[in-house]
Amino acid sequence: MQLKNKKILITGAGSGIGRAIAIELSSHNNQLILCGRNLEKLNETQNLLKQQNAFCCAVDIQSSQDRQLLVQQVSDELGGLDVLINNAGVVHVGSLQEISDHDIEQMMRTNLIAPIQLIRDFLPLLSQSKAPALVNVGSMFGDIAYPLFSIYSATKFGLRGLSDALRRELSSQNIKVIYAAPRATKTGASSSFEKLIKPFGMALDTPEVVARHIVTSIERGKTSIYPKTKEHFFLYVQRLFPKLVDQNVRKKIKNLKV
Ligand SMILES: NC(=O)c1ccc[n+]([C@@H]2O[C@H](COP(=O)([O-])OP(=O)(O)OC[C@H]3O[C@@H](n4cnc5c(N)ncnc54)[C@H](OP(=O)(O)O)[C@@H]3O)[C@@H](O)[C@H]2O)c1
Repeated sequence: MQLKNKKILITGAGSGIGRAIAIELSSHNNQLILCGRNLEKLNETQNLLKQQNAFCCAVDIQSSQDRQLLVQQVSDELGGLDVLINNAGVVHVGSLQEISDHDIEQMMRTNLIAPIQLIRDFLPLLSQSKAPALVNVGSMFGDIAYPLFSIYSATKFGLRGLSDALRRELSSQNIKVIYAAPRATKTGASSSFEKLIKPFGMALDTPEVVARHIVTSIERGKTSIYPKTKEHFFLYVQRLFPKLVDQNVRKKIKNLKV
């Protein structure tokens, strides 16, 4: 699928991976809608684009009123939508006993429930496009569940399941469904798990590398996007020999204090 002359909505476009995706897509005559709660951050992204072909929409995707406003704005400003990129997300880490109701609910709502609702809300516009696509930004933790990331992992497993089901459900409407699972990436979100990077042996990508990989993979027709790094190998170990992953991760957290 060529990402040219497309109308593209990116959630979480005010920072990190969403901002980098916006910059990557801001040429080839694409028209972008940058969404996030903080208008200043969205304006900063807009100023970094290669072409001035975007408008900002400051909304909270958890709010149904805000989502309605977003649909209305996209319809009024662009008259349609070709690609919805569900990228907005939050990360809170900690043992289940320590994690607050607020953090659990914020992760479930932002990372899973709001993307589901956004897809539903935008389906009427997407189904009018000649080449519609949905892109859900998950995580490697949506395949390999990590301790201290239990709720986050649950949201990304959910997003992956949703993507697989919708790929089949929407195929008759010609809507492509793409799931992208970056590994750890140096963004605002990664500061929430900084203490775990070394003990868990995580390698971090830059948002620019992640965004380029996602965009080129979409253009090559991929529906599941994973980093081409050692984590890709771990994915197969997880699928075939999950007990090996249990043992390995148990060793890493044995003496860990967070
Ligand atoms: N960083 C990593 O290690 C990593 C690895 C794999 C996958 N991911 C995934 O990549 C995606 C982007 O994360 P990031 O690392 O780029 O983090 P980030 O820089 O913190 O970006 C997250 C964005 O989501 C927006 N957002 C959060 N809650 C929102 C809400 N209720 N309504 C609208 N926008 C909201 C934030 O903007 P406002 O605060 O302005 O709303 C922010 O711009 C997430 O889905 C994350 O789970 C991250």
